[in-house]
Amino acid sequence: MKIAVIGAGYVGLVTAACLADLGNDVICNDIDSGKISKLNRGAIPIYEPGLDDLIKRNRREKRIKFTTNLRSAVESSEVIFIAVGTPPKDSGEADLTHIEAVARDIARYMKSYHLVVEKSTTPVETGIWIKKTLESYARKGVKFDVASNPEFLREGSAIGDFMRPDRIIIGVESKKAEAILTELYRPLGSEIIVTNINSAEIIKHASNSFLATKISFINAVANICERSGADVEEVARGMGLDKRIGRSFLDAGIGFGGFCFPKDIEAFIHISEKLGYNFELLKSVKRINEAQRLLLVKKVEKVLWNIKGKTIGVLGLAFKPNTDDMRFAPSSTIIEKLKQEGAHIRAYDPQSMGRARQLPEFKGVRFCKDPYGAVKGADCALIVTEWNEFKELDLKKIKKLMCQPVIVDGRNIYEPKMMKDLGFKYNCIGRA
Ligand code: UGA
Repeated sequence: MKIAVIGAGYVGLVTAACLADLGNDVICNDIDSGKISKLNRGAIPIYEPGLDDLIKRNRREKRIKFTTNLRSAVESSEVIFIAVGTPPKDSGEADLTHIEAVARDIARYMKSYHLVVEKSTTPVETGIWIKKTLESYARKGVKFDVASNPEFLREGSAIGDFMRPDRIIIGVESKKAEAILTELYRPLGSEIIVTNINSAEIIKHASNSFLATKISFINAVANICERSGADVEEVARGMGLDKRIGRSFLDAGIGFGGFCFPKDIEAFIHISEKLGYNFELLKSVKRINEAQRLLLVKKVEKVLWNIKGKTIGVLGLAFKPNTDDMRFAPSSTIIEKLKQEGAHIRAYDPQSMGRARQLPEFKGVRFCKDPYGAVKGADCALIVTEWNEFKELDLKKIKKLMCQPVIVDGRNIYEPKMMKDLGFKYNCIGRA
């Protein structure tokens, strides 16, 4: 099929590359000319395992092109995916102005039938607004359909998630739109659920909110474990074996970050309120998550007594492993707070230091070339992101390098007993 993907962000790029790899002709458009010329030079603007090779291969096979020209993207495609950003406004409401602007431009350039598919995460009823916008601005007689096809990929495993999804959601209003999208996704062999557009939009918000609820729930349980001498890992395993609950997303830690969960929860709370429902449960999920980040700072305070003047070696900055994404990363809040308390921060992350350096919260942080450099002379090492390389550290070397062997682990990557046997003062989440 001839496909245009508007927006070369995380979701847009991965969607474009994967659809090209399935044999479609894809043209990917973005207004950021710097990003597009980078892509046209073969450079990938984000770190995502496998994406580099996938884009290179499909550029070579001439199945994917990048352009800033929206008109040519619209004119040369039948299916158009909108994957532009829906960032939060100060109020938490999703800012849909980019979506509207793109829909208006698409309408102006459409000369024949197009299926316009909303891929960005959007509040319920956005599809209806896209349809109204297309109706208002399209030439007379031009036919189109609107669909919602939310994406469930995770950063760090985006390509596998796209190619082997648990389910594909298609929210449509016409048989034609259903047939096109069903055909497009047929090669993936996954179950396709066809719904109306509003349901598809809510499926995405509700799924992310439910996963975030699981995380806040287990973090709340971790707090009870700490107070009672129970072990949250054992509790999560015991709960997770119940098939109705499941073990995934029950890893206690410093809470969820990234550009999806925090933003989508805010947007879901907001749209619920707009529709006349007070989503108290999600408000609590958000509050628990915010408190969990600061819990780590409280733990540091507890072991170091005063933070002022102490050196803290922070291992991991990205909001999770296998990404360089720093958006809504817990490390920002934690480091900002530690700096306010007067700590000297040394830090290391395998992928995200370039991005972190540009953020004001990281001003004054000493970035180190490896984890050993980050903990050198430190009064405390702080595990913030559970990169595999931190699980394989030479802990004897770490102990020698540190000013005192204190580790506060926000991701529970080590066994408490082993750490104690090695002579560390080891403090983690929800485990004695
Ligand atoms: C999330 C969803 O998992 C995807 O399905 C969805 O497509 C995506 O948002 C999106 O809306 O675009 P992502 O934000 O990439 O994906 O990352 P996750 O792997 O879901 O992790 C989110 C956060 O939760 C991370 O900060 C992670 O550290 C935290 N987390 C996750 C926990 O604290 N505990 C867990 O058990 C699992």
